[in-house]
Amino acid sequence: MSTHIAAAAGQVAPTVLLPGDPLRAKWIAETYLDDATCYTEVRGMYGFTGTWRGRPVSVQGSGMGQPSMAIYVNELFAEYDVQSIVRVGSCGALTERLALRDVVLASGACTDSSMNRLRFLGLDYAPVADFGLLRAAHDAAQARSDLTAHVGLIYSSDSFYNPRAAELTKPLVDHGVLAVEMEASALYTLAASYGRRALAICTVSDHIVTGEETTALERQETFGAMVEIALAASTA
Ligand code: ADE
Repeated sequence: MSTHIAAAAGQVAPTVLLPGDPLRAKWIAETYLDDATCYTEVRGMYGFTGTWRGRPVSVQGSGMGQPSMAIYVNELFAEYDVQSIVRVGSCGALTERLALRDVVLASGACTDSSMNRLRFLGLDYAPVADFGLLRAAHDAAQARSDLTAHVGLIYSSDSFYNPRAAELTKPLVDHGVLAVEMEASALYTLAASYGRRALAICTVSDHIVTGEETTALERQETFGAMVEIALAASTA
């Protein structure tokens, strides 16, 4: 086992879906995977492995924010030889181009986090999605009539509550950034550093411009559609 994941070698599949919420990991395993078994419960951060359409897939909770996510992703890449990680999460829309429940396929991720700045000695690295995963997710999303998908930049913030958020996000929005979440930028950087593949897919759970929010039922339904896209893309 690794420091934060209680799996034995070989218990984690080469392809991992990564929700922030460990209970979402459990729900994905119970809803979509065949023969799913739980390989870790350390800190309540569940991980499961099963099969989807005959292909081995794991689902691992990451917690909220880049520091927590990076602990699990480092161990998945370094200790379990994971090849592809698709984050499935929610985001806040920063522009009226997006509507509640839309899906964002993050081609790249800006950040206010110091994690990348420290890694690149102050230079501004541009963390981007794996193109093959992005293209496969886009194909899967385009094949559906029940959702609208956008491809573009997102903003991975270290703060969910930030009194200066409007001022900070305006220049980002003026340069095409679509939505805010809290994990993708460090995920893309870690994938690049290990030479592995990563993609973040997010559903719009709240709208920063209009103040609208999804209901719990709406979040569950859209989350399911996004998971299906992630499964199709990661096993393509
Ligand atoms: N995830 C979902 N909504 C968010 C928001 N408004 N800010 C950061 N992360 C989010």
